[in-house]
Amino acid sequence: MAGVGDRLLEMGFGKPRGLLGRIGGRLMARGNAATEQHLVDLAELQRADDVLVVGPGPGIGVQAAATRAHHVVAVDPSEAMVAASARRCATSIDEGVVEVRLGDAENTGQGDASVDVVLSVNNVMLWPDRHAGFTELRRVLRPGGRMLLSVHEKWLPGGLSGLRSSVADSGFTDIETWTWEPPGRGATTAAQLRARRE
Ligand SMILES: C[S@@+](CC[C@H](N)C(=O)[O-])C[C@H]1O[C@@H](n2cnc3c(N)ncnc32)[C@H](O)[C@@H]1O
Repeated sequence: MAGVGDRLLEMGFGKPRGLLGRIGGRLMARGNAATEQHLVDLAELQRADDVLVVGPGPGIGVQAAATRAHHVVAVDPSEAMVAASARRCATSIDEGVVEVRLGDAENTGQGDASVDVVLSVNNVMLWPDRHAGFTELRRVLRPGGRMLLSVHEKWLPGGLSGLRSSVADSGFTDIETWTWEPPGRGATTAAQLRARRE
């Protein structure tokens, strides 16, 4: 059974809501910005790419991707984080480059084979069903499309090898994994993965 600490963590970071969610959103925007930016760099986005960001929280990665891609859709199950991402990306939304909406890894609302790149930071450990999440993300990727993930290593159940197995079991290929040290005091090791839909 979840204790009070777990519930507070969920309200601040897991599915942010209320005052704790607003505080969590600000902390994430600062603490995870380097990782969000790094994952966008690793994705080597092209001007024609359609991108799906899963669990953007306060939207740092969405904003970074919007400067390089054709179109970016972001889905998050937290109304507070959808609103925070939308505020951060207001200009890109007005320009028709970004869409932010409610959704989650298991139900992105995207059409089959409709995106070139999926990006997700500090998110996989929150999914209730990893296989369902990766099956959905593979469904929405175009053939040859790529998925890049980053997760705080210390919060990743099963570690990188477990993540690699889940991704492989869901039909992805060309899977690569590594760890990365974000800059800054107090930053913790990021477990990262790149994979492709055949
Ligand atoms: C720890 S925050 C990470 C936010 C941001 N990517 C970052 O690293 O700062 C997790 C985010 O994932 C969202 N989330 C929770 N469950 C999810 C799910 N099943 N699918 C997609 N996003 C989810 C939360 O609402 C929250 O905005």
